[in-house]
Formats: sequence, structure tokens, C-alpha cells
Amino acid sequence: MTALLNQPLLLPNGTLLPNRLAKSAMSEALGTTDNRVTPALALLYERWSAGRTGLLITGNVMIDRQALGEPNNVALEDDRDAELLRAWANAASSQGAVCWMQLNHPGKQAPKGLNRETVAPSALGFNEQLQRFFAEPRALTIEEIEQIIGRFAQAAALAKKAGFSGVQIHGAHGYLVSQFLSPKHNQRQDRYGGSAENRRRFVLEVYQAIRQAVGQEFSVGIKLNSADFQKGGFTEEESLAVIDALAAAGIDLIEISGGTYEAPVMSVGVVKESTQQREAYFLEFAEKVRARVNTPLMVTGGFRTRAGMEAALASGALDLVGLARPLALDPDYAAQLLNDELPRNPTPSRITTGLAAVDRMGLMEVSWYTRQIHRLAAGRSTKPQESALLAFAGIIVSSGWKTWKTRRLRA
Ligand SMILES: Cc1cc2nc3c(=O)[nH]c(=O)nc-3n(C[C@H](O)[C@H](O)[C@H](O)COP(=O)(O)O)c2cc1C
Repeated sequence: MTALLNQPLLLPNGTLLPNRLAKSAMSEALGTTDNRVTPALALLYERWSAGRTGLLITGNVMIDRQALGEPNNVALEDDRDAELLRAWANAASSQGAVCWMQLNHPGKQAPKGLNRETVAPSALGFNEQLQRFFAEPRALTIEEIEQIIGRFAQAAALAKKAGFSGVQIHGAHGYLVSQFLSPKHNQRQDRYGGSAENRRRFVLEVYQAIRQAVGQEFSVGIKLNSADFQKGGFTEEESLAVIDALAAAGIDLIEISGGTYEAPVMSVGVVKESTQQREAYFLEFAEKVRARVNTPLMVTGGFRTRAGMEAALASGALDLVGLARPLALDPDYAAQLLNDELPRNPTPSRITTGLAAVDRMGLMEVSWYTRQIHRLAAGRSTKPQESALLAFAGIIVSSGWKTWKTRRLRA
């Protein structure tokens, strides 16, 4: 049975992934204040590459430095970081892993005060609770939408030039691509909104522009939500229609995930008992996708045991097991799985500050894991016992300070 995890996977473009384990994107927040690449990224990815995960997908890299999702993102617009990018790509693939860069634009999901202005498909803010964190957006013009599509393609070409072997479009978790897909957030009446077909035009044009820029042999994938679990939002049916269209257009890999900051599924609630029993949150949806398209599928969210991963692969519903948080705590988790060991799930069952309002926000958990990633990048060991309350206090102080520094630099 374990042999399933060790099997290579051939993607439609001819890329061979060495095994069935993939590191899903985790934002590293290791860029400089002015969003340049740093040597720490190469160190971090060398560590992950040594851990034998077959496919390493980087944390989200922003395609526009005026549109950051968080302080210390890396932004990729031109050749200025060519050497450090090359070092990053080389380190990531130094031990046989294949490395893709995730590309993102946050749309309106950007912290208040970080960017000079916030843009989105429509001038609609988030719900009341999130309005405290995210600014009120302005609606993009058609010309700006076309420029953003061009930026995705440009960033993909730069990633290719640096030696990454693929890119992944971030189409999940409530960022710009996902905002375009959602009838709740996209209320445009032009060719990018209105009907479901118009709402998916943006992501299809992003894919086509990237493909044109990088050619047929470079890998292009997407991370998509199965649904956004919101009333009046992006439904499973619509997600399936987007998948049909991207598969027909020739995408190499579809990663299935779910949730947004408004309705997080990563850390809290929503998970049905049947899903818990089957470990991964989005397996049922993957089965529906599998029945419709032949495109290789990766499913991410909740995989924690070798038996669960093997059963999911054996069911045929997916081709790649996506792992995020376990690899932030144990970069050798994949190696242990591939060596037929029975590794302990490295993730704590719950990361809690003891403050209910804070714990409800998925953001706190993400920040706790970011601190673990920073320890790995510094060559230190991770600290699974780290206090969530202390981490939270650190985050409050440092995120305000970092946002202020980013803005000051641009003033
Ligand atoms: C610290 C952290 C940062 C993340 N950053 C990203 C990101 O940049 N892009 C993305 O698509 N998902 C991001 N995610 C979500 C993960 O890729 C993954 O979908 C989620 O953690 C569920 O998988 P898991 O149960 O294996 O952790 C992040 C998660 C964590 C914990």
C-alpha cells in the first residue's frame, strides 16, 4: 500500500513528480520590507527539499508590489531579484523536488493601511467583523483587469527564467481570483461579471496569458476552492464548471482547497463528521471532480496519517496529497512517510490563546505557523509547544510595525 505514496506522477506537460506528496503553499513572509527576495528563502527551501516532499509550492508571491497581501511578501514584477530567485529555485530542487511558485493578487483581502489603495472586482467591503482588518475597495476598471492579467503572465515568465519548473495560480481562499468567481463579491455588469461564465472569464484569461508566456512544457496549475461556504457565494456547482473550463484549456494540476477568511474551514468548525473520519476536508468534492475530468488532482486540508493518505490515493479520487501545516513543524514528515515509517502527526490538535474571539480568526493560527517557518528558515528547530498567546502578542506588535514600515517606505 505504501508504494502508492512513492509512485511518481506524470503531468500532462511531461513533468515527472517524484512521489505523491506535495507541500501546499504557505506564505513565508520572508521578503524584505520593500518586498525583495531574501537568502532565507533558499535556506528554507533547501530544508524542505531535503525532506523529500516531491512537489514544493512556494508561499504566495505577489504580482504587483502595490497590491500586497501582507507585509514582507515577495513581489515579482521584473528582473531585479534574478540572482536570489535563481538561488531559491536551485535550493528547492537541489534534492530532487520539483518547485513551483504560487502567484497571487489579494484584491480586497489586504490589511488596512498596507497598500495605498485597495482594489477588487466590485466596490464592496467585507462583512462587519472583517472590515476592521481589510480596507474598503474600489472597483477595478477593465483596463486595470487587463493589466493584472498581464502581470500574472509576466511573473510566470520571470519564475520560469529563474529556474522554477511551474507556477500555481492562487484561485482559492478569498483573494482576487476567488473574488471574481464569487457572485457575492463580484457584482460587475460587464464581461467579467453578471453570469457565472463572465465571472470565470478572469481566471481563464489569467491561465491563457500565463500559458502563452511560458509555453506548453512549463507546468501551470491552480488552487481552487471547492466552495466558499458562504450564503450567496461560490458554490460547488460553479466550482465544477470552472474546473471543466480549466481542464479543457489544458491546465496541468488542480489543487482543491476551501474556505475564506469570512468562512474559514482550515482551523475551525464546518467539518462534517464523515469528513473527519475520512481525514481530508475536501475528498468528497474531489470524487465529483474526478468523475468529470482527467486533469491530475491534488487535495489539501487535513491529511495527518499515512493510512488516510494511502486510502485517499487508493480511492482514485486524487493523485497528490497536499500537506501544509505538518511540514511547517516537521520538514522531514514526507521522508518518514515515504520510508514506510509511521510518523507522529506533528501538528497540535488545537492552537489556542484562550481568548475565544482571537481563536475564531483563522489568522492567529496562520501566524503561529509562520513563526515556525521562520525558525526553519533560520536553521533552528521548530517549537510545537510555543504559546499561542505569546505568538499572538508578537503578531499584533510586529504586524502593525511592519505595515507602518512598508507604508513609510513607499511614501
Ligand atoms: C502559515 C500558513 C500560510 C499559508 N499561506 C498560504 C498561501 O500563501 N497560499 C495558499 O494557497 N494557502 C496558504 N495556506 C493554506 C495551506 O496551503 C493549506 O491549504 C491549509 O493549511 C490546509 O492544509 P493543512 O491541513 O495540510 O495545513 C497557508 C497556511 C498556513 C498554515
